[in-house]
Amino acid sequence: MRRVCLLGASGSIGSQSLDILSKDREAFELVGFSVGKRIEKISQILSLFPNVRHFCVQEGKAASMLSLIYPDLHIYVGDRGLLQLIKNCECDMVVNALVGFSGMAPSVLSMELGKILCLANKESLVVGGKLINDLRKQGRGTLYPIDSEHVAIAKLLSRVNREDVDKIWITASGGSFRDRNRDELGSVTPAEALAHPTWSMGAKITIDSATMMNKGFEVIEAKVLFDFPLERTHILMHKESHVHSLLQMKDGSYLADVSAPDMHGPIAYALYETKVPFELVKADSLQELGDFTFWDFDPNRYPAVGIALSAFAKGGNAPAVLNAANEIAVYAFLEGKIPFTSIEDEVSYALDHVPYEEEVSLDGLIKTDAYTRDLVGKHIAGR
Ligand SMILES: NC(=O)c1ccc[n+]([C@@H]2O[C@H](COP(=O)([O-])OP(=O)(O)OC[C@H]3O[C@@H](n4cnc5c(N)ncnc54)[C@H](OP(=O)(O)O)[C@@H]3O)[C@@H](O)[C@H]2O)c1
Repeated sequence: MRRVCLLGASGSIGSQSLDILSKDREAFELVGFSVGKRIEKISQILSLFPNVRHFCVQEGKAASMLSLIYPDLHIYVGDRGLLQLIKNCECDMVVNALVGFSGMAPSVLSMELGKILCLANKESLVVGGKLINDLRKQGRGTLYPIDSEHVAIAKLLSRVNREDVDKIWITASGGSFRDRNRDELGSVTPAEALAHPTWSMGAKITIDSATMMNKGFEVIEAKVLFDFPLERTHILMHKESHVHSLLQMKDGSYLADVSAPDMHGPIAYALYETKVPFELVKADSLQELGDFTFWDFDPNRYPAVGIALSAFAKGGNAPAVLNAANEIAVYAFLEGKIPFTSIEDEVSYALDHVPYEEEVSLDGLIKTDAYTRDLVGKHIAGR
């Protein structure tokens, strides 16, 4: 029995995690959860999990109102509240399904406290991969990724000898505008960008998929998690999103994790701490994997990938700048303040203008995040 604290319970990964938790009451007990602004989800969650005593919301006003409805429950507020929730709810497992930098400090705290961290919040690894890996090296906390590509890579690597692996291929759908060239992107709307061809996800990751910043983040995430050489980690465009990632072996054969695009599988793999039966597909060529479409990744079509990887290569606080600027720019696009193609421009602007810092600490990353948000917010306002 694992006592689970679910952060981001009102979101896409959060609600799919609730499905899994509610179907296996012998393996899991939900002891705490958070939502952001969608407080209407709280009553549904509490009716499914009536023993929960702790929850967190993003805004103080909502918390005051909810404390009248739930006087016997512990209610926490904001970024600080997320940390108090993890500390107080007596969980052994934290599922971090928050989006963006708000997930960073909860990931670090979960590891510091020696919890099992099931991590969907890839921004934690992009911004604070070094901090989290330092904790892993010290044996503090246990980390299981939730991202489908990284669950696939973990499964694949568990069945081979690493010395026999030539390349890791991370597959990419190409997002909502994969059938358009760059010249056609100037006037695309948020509604068009949110129409992902294969996955149903939260708004921010859907826009990150359209720019493919998401794939840049995933290459970084793979490096942080598996420490496989970056020069042998590649992106492969794949239309159907059924092949979640591939290993190309030194003998030329492929090993793939293949299933329909549904996050319940990867989430369950993390929640059950990898103790889930699975089968992989071995093939001598990509064509042999099935009736799927693959094509080469074009870095000029998706410059966000190169921007992300350069920031990662620079190190220090650059990934924090990358992430914060991207978040601000993505939400500005969604609010109609900037065109789609300016998302990458705003990220590059921030990387050129935020002072570089070599040393990485949680406090330093929080300062860089705030500084970058302010800088990019003003830059967008002045356009
Ligand atoms: N969705 C997928 O299929 C998928 C796949 C792989 C990886 N991921 C990763 O998983 C993470 C979550 O993605 P998602 O698609 O589930 O996002 P989502 O649907 O937008 O959900 C995000 C959750 O975080 C909460 N939240 C947002 N900002 C917050 C803040 N400042 N403070 C507290 N809570 C906050 C939201 O609360 P409210 O909605 O109540 O405001 C919601 O519960 C992301 O890092 C994403 O990259 C997602």
